[in-house]
Amino acid sequence: MPGPSTSQRRRNAASSDFLAPWFLGAAAENEATLERLLIAFLRDHVYWRRNFHPEDPPVIGAAEQLAPDYLAAVARMEQALRELSARLKRSVPLYSPRYVGHMASDLLLPGLLAQLVTTLYNPNNVSAEAGPVTVDLEVEVGQQLARMLGYATDSRRAPAAYGHLTSGGTVANYEALWLHRAARLYPLAAADALGAVPAFAGLFRGLDAWRLANLPWPRIAALQARIEALLARAPDAAALRARLAAARVERLGMAGFLARHGLAAPVVIAPRTAHYSWPKAMQLLGLGDAQLWPAAVDAHMRLEPDSVARLLRQAWRARQPVLAVIGVLGTTEFGTIDPIARLVELREQAARRGQGFALHVDAAWGGYLSCLFRDPRGRLVPRSALRKAFRYFPSAAVHRAFGALRLADSVTVDPHKLGYIPFGAGAFIARDRRLAGFVGQRPVYLYDEANPAQSTDRLGQLGDYILEGSKAGAAAAAVYVCNRVLPLDSAHFGRVCAQTLHASEHLYDRLRETAARLAPLCRLVLPVEPDTNVCCLAVNPAGNRALATTNRFGRALYARFAIGRAGKPQGSEFLGSHTSLLRANLKDADARRIARRLGLDPAGFVVAPRDAAREADHLFLLRHTLMNPWLMHASDGRNFLDRYCEYLEQAIRATLADFA
Ligand SMILES: Cc1ncc(COP(=O)(O)O)c(C=O)c1O
Repeated sequence: MPGPSTSQRRRNAASSDFLAPWFLGAAAENEATLERLLIAFLRDHVYWRRNFHPEDPPVIGAAEQLAPDYLAAVARMEQALRELSARLKRSVPLYSPRYVGHMASDLLLPGLLAQLVTTLYNPNNVSAEAGPVTVDLEVEVGQQLARMLGYATDSRRAPAAYGHLTSGGTVANYEALWLHRAARLYPLAAADALGAVPAFAGLFRGLDAWRLANLPWPRIAALQARIEALLARAPDAAALRARLAAARVERLGMAGFLARHGLAAPVVIAPRTAHYSWPKAMQLLGLGDAQLWPAAVDAHMRLEPDSVARLLRQAWRARQPVLAVIGVLGTTEFGTIDPIARLVELREQAARRGQGFALHVDAAWGGYLSCLFRDPRGRLVPRSALRKAFRYFPSAAVHRAFGALRLADSVTVDPHKLGYIPFGAGAFIARDRRLAGFVGQRPVYLYDEANPAQSTDRLGQLGDYILEGSKAGAAAAAVYVCNRVLPLDSAHFGRVCAQTLHASEHLYDRLRETAARLAPLCRLVLPVEPDTNVCCLAVNPAGNRALATTNRFGRALYARFAIGRAGKPQGSEFLGSHTSLLRANLKDADARRIARRLGLDPAGFVVAPRDAAREADHLFLLRHTLMNPWLMHASDGRNFLDRYCEYLEQAIRATLADFA
């Protein structure tokens, strides 16, 4: 049932005024604030340097700064920067509300300023020794993001969540698999190394390799805790630890480990729509991307739980351990939301038959939308309350999925996407901080084992348990400062998220009106119902029945929204992106339905065309990512999306004329 009326939605859109202080602005309207604060904190940094050891003589003399060589060097530097600045003018104007392409936008000023200011100090968050301030901020940011997702963070009670930043969602996904593999295969290694040692043997009684490979997470965590407690008391602890380390998959490699335990290759189940970082992760960990089993998606590109259930049973019958099931909260191409609550149920059902796996949610895109669903006290906002603010959002399924996020074992979320932070800020968050205890590298130049402060505060020793080494503390500062001024809940950051959804609902309605106007000339179809703020469309010239022609038309239309490598963005009215709906991801009936809606011959939309040039295995789509904060900003009664739709209509008419 539709929600608020047009006038109500107009009022919602007008409330975007609150965004004014938070972004630089489409025409850098907040330039004065950026400049004032940047210079103020640049000076602050300069004084910090001068006050470190003021007794030291200057290393660069004032006279030296007047020498010809010095002046020439500074001129060279300025020249190089001028050239850079000139080249950068060809950058994509991601900040502009005329940009509706990829997952990028204007940046939150507090994050941008914090990042620029902190870069002057250049902290390295690999360890507290190189980034004492920003490592603390990163640990705190991990807790804030965890609470946004609904995780408990009280360290006195398990499970208590932890999280940290990564360079992006890709690395967070790698880390998810790295950690879950370490934890899930730990019991096998422990039994191998310690099963014959009398003090430990009881822990493994009755557990064969298959059962050890399938323990549910709470038992794995409890087993490790018990082993650590026994090791702490064991007289030969060092030797036993060395044995345990030698039996781990991290030491033996996948091939050696599996052969030793007589196990088939473990699998990971992910939806067909999963981001391409997942096959990369499988390759990197030596699991092989053939072991990434694709689960079917429905007509709207949401994971089908029945397909996951079937794959789980298949793995069970074939005695292949399942390391993880991946759900996606906001698919890259369509922004759709997988049924996370159903995946949680499947994990519990599988556990009852003895099959254990980790549930990871790739919420690189949609994770920040959790702000809308959490009130300032961390409680889930009821759907009825959310429905008052939107016309369509959130569907019952979407609300359930966000509510269930707190039960996933871990989550990827990207502050550099819907968190509006400069690039270089993804995050990995786990429901239980004990997960980090299954990996560990402690280089002696960074960690002093004899220093008790370092051994107790492990979360602060990032380099020990994350994939990256040196990493910018400035990214942590950026996220931290943003979260301070806009806490991650419905009353604060949630308002930024709400803007993107209002924009999406507006575009959705306007596109349907555009489609109705263009009906005599072409069919404009949104083949995938938007769950959130990504919206894709296909256009088929009237009378055309051949998919190859539709795709050619789509590409010709897209050329009016694209920047080529040598192109000038200023020449573009609006900038978009594209994707394709793959026939292989659709069921027969859904493919036929989409073909019919477009007026195409359903028999011409096939999984494996005989002649690849016919392009009959995909439908080319214009893709819109609606995250710019100013999309709903109106002047003379039309906002940027109204203008976009007008331009799209003109572009379709012009392309049809060229195409004829
Ligand atoms: C669902 C999903 N996961 C992972 C990623 C990878 O994130 P990043 O580009 O930050 O590495 C993306 C990027 O678009 C994504 O949409």
